[in-house]
Amino acid sequence: MDNASGGPRIFELDDRHKAIEPFDPKTVSHPRYKEWGSEPMRRIDVETYISPEHVKLEAERLWPYSWHAAGRVEEVANPGDYMEYEIGDQSIIITRTQAGELKAYSNVCQHRGTQLVKGCGHTDQFVCPYHGWRWSLDGENRYVHDAVDFPGLKREELRLPESAVDTFAGFIFVRPEKEGPSLQDYLKPIAHILEPYHIEQYVVKSWRTLVVPANWKTALEAFEEVYHLMGTHPQTIKGNDDVEVPYDNFEGGHSLMVVPVYVPTARFKGRASEQEVLKVAIDNLLDVNLADEGEKAAMEALAGQPLPDGTTTRDLFMEMARGQYQKFMPELAPDRYVEDWDFTIFPNMVFNLFPGNYFGFIARPNGKDPDSCIFDVVALIHPGERGLESNPREFVTDPGHDWGAVLAQDFYNLGRVQAGMHQRGIQQTRLAGYQEKRIYGRHDEIARYFEAHDPAKT
Ligand code: FES
Ligand SMILES: [Fe+2]
Repeated sequence: MDNASGGPRIFELDDRHKAIEPFDPKTVSHPRYKEWGSEPMRRIDVETYISPEHVKLEAERLWPYSWHAAGRVEEVANPGDYMEYEIGDQSIIITRTQAGELKAYSNVCQHRGTQLVKGCGHTDQFVCPYHGWRWSLDGENRYVHDAVDFPGLKREELRLPESAVDTFAGFIFVRPEKEGPSLQDYLKPIAHILEPYHIEQYVVKSWRTLVVPANWKTALEAFEEVYHLMGTHPQTIKGNDDVEVPYDNFEGGHSLMVVPVYVPTARFKGRASEQEVLKVAIDNLLDVNLADEGEKAAMEALAGQPLPDGTTTRDLFMEMARGQYQKFMPELAPDRYVEDWDFTIFPNMVFNLFPGNYFGFIARPNGKDPDSCIFDVVALIHPGERGLESNPREFVTDPGHDWGAVLAQDFYNLGRVQAGMHQRGIQQTRLAGYQEKRIYGRHDEIARYFEAHDPAKT
């Protein structure tokens, strides 16, 4: 069978459809369900995903003026550490000066335009590989070869053009345009919800990057609603509720949904035993392939045991997780341990957050191609008392890489969505008013950036 994303097929589509339980809307009485239909459905032009013109507009009016996560603070921990951050066709050097300050510069030699660095490393100065001009970590030009032959050239004009750089939750954020609102202001609508998780203390369990055959928005949108659980991940819904889910869009294009876990979908009311819920919950956890051998063995042992009388799967996991992490994040309510708080930081960062665990995605345009993106799959963990340290990034090119079933199911869809949007038979997508509001929230915010940075109006 063909596979648009190159990964293994999970199961045949016919089987997948057989696994979807028929659903009678009259059986759902949960109050959340009543919010469905409360907001108008939305239509989005497919051009916004597939046209080179739209890529160009984003490059001119969105990416330069928004903050985006580029990496973790520990990647440039020491003076002289540097990393290259690429977004579309732009490349930025992120470095730490001798004084310990983070800096970001346009990655370009001011002589004839050679990129100064590739990848990451450690240096005491940036030396152009072409004719050897040099810059300090502070971005000052330090050397021009045969300077006498450049009459009138001023050293000040050779300063590396700076971008804005700051940190939040242990991530380095960059905004290519130096001037604009601070990162603190930018994140104000959601920072207070995130701060009690103390993500700045987490270490990188894995940071895997791949090229996905879909627009960066197509890719992120696969993770911003649980409306697709029935169709794409039917094996999970006895351990995740796709009904009792608040969706919220915040000012600035950020958004949130809260998915109850370790409970079956409200559509299955009373039809999944606690023992089944436990089994599915453990399968879901093991599926992300992030547990170490010890954790795997403990979970497998748990799955085989009957739950103590009167204990729910939810109670069990709440106790386990609180035992491990509550002392590091005492402000968090007990419910947070059995809910997946799933955030979008506008424009391109989406993540599932549990106390002590972060699992998320960052998508960036791949050069000028509307049909592919660079996609980071990032897992962070609180080290607790285990003394864990961050692992380095990996670039995944093996189409057979084991992403686990859930992620492989999502990846399988992406290439098909992107190819589908090129068909003559569609001009606009159709989005559910409530359950898909995070998706149109991003499109609305992008439209605001296009308007605000329209050169004809400024
Ligand atoms: S292009 Fe960089 S020194 Fe000439
Ligand atoms: Fe999914």
